[in-house]
Amino acid sequence: MSCLLAAALAGNFYDDMDITFGNQRAKIFNNGQDLSLSLDHFSGSGFQSKHEYLFGRFDMQLKLVPGNSAGTVTTFYLSSQGAGHDEIDFEFLGNSSGNPYTIHTNVYAQGKGDKEQQFRPWFDPTAAFHTYTIVWNSQRIIFLIDNISIRVFEASGVPFPNRQPMRVYASLWNADDWATQGGRVKTDWTKAPFTASYRKFNANANKVGPDQTSENNNQAWSTQGLDAAGRNRIRWVHANYMIYNYCTDNSRFPAGLPPECKTSKFL
Ligand SMILES: *[C@@H]1O[C@H](CO)[C@@H](O)[C@H](O)[C@H]1NC(C)=O
Repeated sequence: MSCLLAAALAGNFYDDMDITFGNQRAKIFNNGQDLSLSLDHFSGSGFQSKHEYLFGRFDMQLKLVPGNSAGTVTTFYLSSQGAGHDEIDFEFLGNSSGNPYTIHTNVYAQGKGDKEQQFRPWFDPTAAFHTYTIVWNSQRIIFLIDNISIRVFEASGVPFPNRQPMRVYASLWNADDWATQGGRVKTDWTKAPFTASYRKFNANANKVGPDQTSENNNQAWSTQGLDAAGRNRIRWVHANYMIYNYCTDNSRFPAGLPPECKTSKFL
């Protein structure tokens, strides 16, 4: 019985997602269990969730563009719509063969972002699927990779996404004007099409809208924070794999660092 329940809860891309651009470059296959996005010199591709959510835990497994992925950007993010939007981003900036991906994260609250943190993966993100997770509750946002917290953004005392429902989005597109080594390394179109793979999407989240059937059997995410082990691991990630942190970029904020940077325990 619990197996049936777990299977029913695991996402199906046909049920959960709409292809938003790229036509046949986005493919759902294997009975809705797998989705691939591709990019060629005419277009990238992308999809978005059918539902909107207000808080939840969102898991996606991704296998990134292998080989020479310079110029490509693969994404998995949450966003509200309209002016003053909220957004919680994972973006994966490709690189030339043998050079590491950059895992880029950002948070927008009421239209304002400028909260980038970037990381190197401690694994080859193109060799196998890894699980990328956004936990979004009323107290904080947590970014995780394979259940290891890499970033925490606390709500206390700062603008925070807490009123606008968000959809899940994913895309693969060309950004060779800025993505790789500051735009110096361009997409090698002789290697196209580029392909990234997605599977095992799971939203354990508050659905908003007319058919808000609950996907909320396990509400652990709603109070999720970091325990002692989680704090040790995030310190390990930050010490070894963080390559950019807006909270230490004084030259960017001459009038002073944003307030959340002063209270954050994980600088
Ligand atoms: C690509 O590799 C170079 C050299 O290792 C590195 O400086 C850069 O940050 C990497 N990532 C991107 C997205 O350029």
